[in-house]
Amino acid sequence: MNKYNVAIVGVTGAVGQEFLKLIEERNFPFDNLKMLASKRSAGKKINFMGKEYTVEETTNDSFKDVKIALFAGGAASKMFAPAAVEAGAVVIDNSSSFRMDPNVPLVVPEVNPQAIARHKGIIANPNCSTIIMVMALKPLYDIAKIKRVVVSTYQAVSGAGREGMDELKNQVDEIVNNKPVNSNVLPVASLDKHYQIAFNLLPQIDVFKENLYTKEEMKMIDETMKIMEDSSMRITATTVRVPVYRSHAESVNVEFVDEVSVEAARAALSKFPGVKICDDPDNMIYPQPLNTSGKDDVEVGRIRKDYSIEHGLNFWVCGDQIRKGAALNALQIAEYIIKNS
Ligand SMILES: NC(=O)c1ccc[n+]([C@@H]2O[C@H](COP(=O)([O-])OP(=O)(O)OC[C@H]3O[C@@H](n4cnc5c(N)ncnc54)[C@H](OP(=O)(O)O)[C@@H]3O)[C@@H](O)[C@H]2O)c1
Repeated sequence: MNKYNVAIVGVTGAVGQEFLKLIEERNFPFDNLKMLASKRSAGKKINFMGKEYTVEETTNDSFKDVKIALFAGGAASKMFAPAAVEAGAVVIDNSSSFRMDPNVPLVVPEVNPQAIARHKGIIANPNCSTIIMVMALKPLYDIAKIKRVVVSTYQAVSGAGREGMDELKNQVDEIVNNKPVNSNVLPVASLDKHYQIAFNLLPQIDVFKENLYTKEEMKMIDETMKIMEDSSMRITATTVRVPVYRSHAESVNVEFVDEVSVEAARAALSKFPGVKICDDPDNMIYPQPLNTSGKDDVEVGRIRKDYSIEHGLNFWVCGDQIRKGAALNALQIAEYIIKNS
């Protein structure tokens, strides 16, 4: 089997660390592995699969001989992805920098693998909440066209990276030790104003836009239409940060053009790769973030009719947003490219 020179930009972050776990777990065929991050982490040692690696600062010269560049470094994508492409690498990017660029495919391999072939060097991984939602929407869309989607998210603090997780842990420690609570990261680290997330909910993820939606909400709306290749679909979203470490949950209401029974929805969802039905109300079985954390599958449950409209269903979906919502989805894209090259 061919082996590929791989670079991970942002290897010290939440998504970067998950890339390492998945590369080992999935036996990803890498040859040389470059571990890249910012200047802050340069020189740091990482032991991986029996070898010690030294983290390097990412520069435009980091990508010589690299064939697959996995980007999980936030703003680093805009700064260095063009240099990686120039050096001959295929970039698979977790940031939002290129997602809505018409020249960049936005891909969930189970949903729109056909888009991968259109790439010109960069392939974008969608927003994590979008990936988890479209994994459940696609099998339903295949049995009946979707008219409208109303989604509310319950997003884990790790969606805000390492510092989001540290913030929740530190606040819980402060509270149980009767100390004053410090809030420095959420809802948006780069803003001046912060709120407590421990024992609280924040209905703001990312900054507000002029239309009063947050950027996260607009990402779910715009990206879903691009991935599903259907701009006629009406979508509205409310995205909320919850004091959960890992795995996003979403309450999704779908209106179809034609009738879709609960049984037909279950049958379609259960056949779809990467989706697991977890729905047994008699035995109180439903998806929970604690159960999907560290797992590859997106779990769907609470599937029921929406009696307030003619052809509607409600369901609840949970998925590990660092895995399927980021690193796993990106690695699956890389695996698809390798298999089809
Ligand atoms: N966390 C999630 O659930 C999730 C889900 C989907 C997509 N994403 C996206 O994935 C990306 C990474 O998120 P994360 O949660 O892993 O963030 P994170 O835990 O905060 O880690 C950020 C990483 O980016 C590196 N970095 C920052 N500035 C850089 C620069 N100028 N050049 C090179 N590397 C730089 C950091 O390196 P240092 O250690 O040197 O600071 C660190 O390795 C973001 O674009 C995020 O939006 C995250």
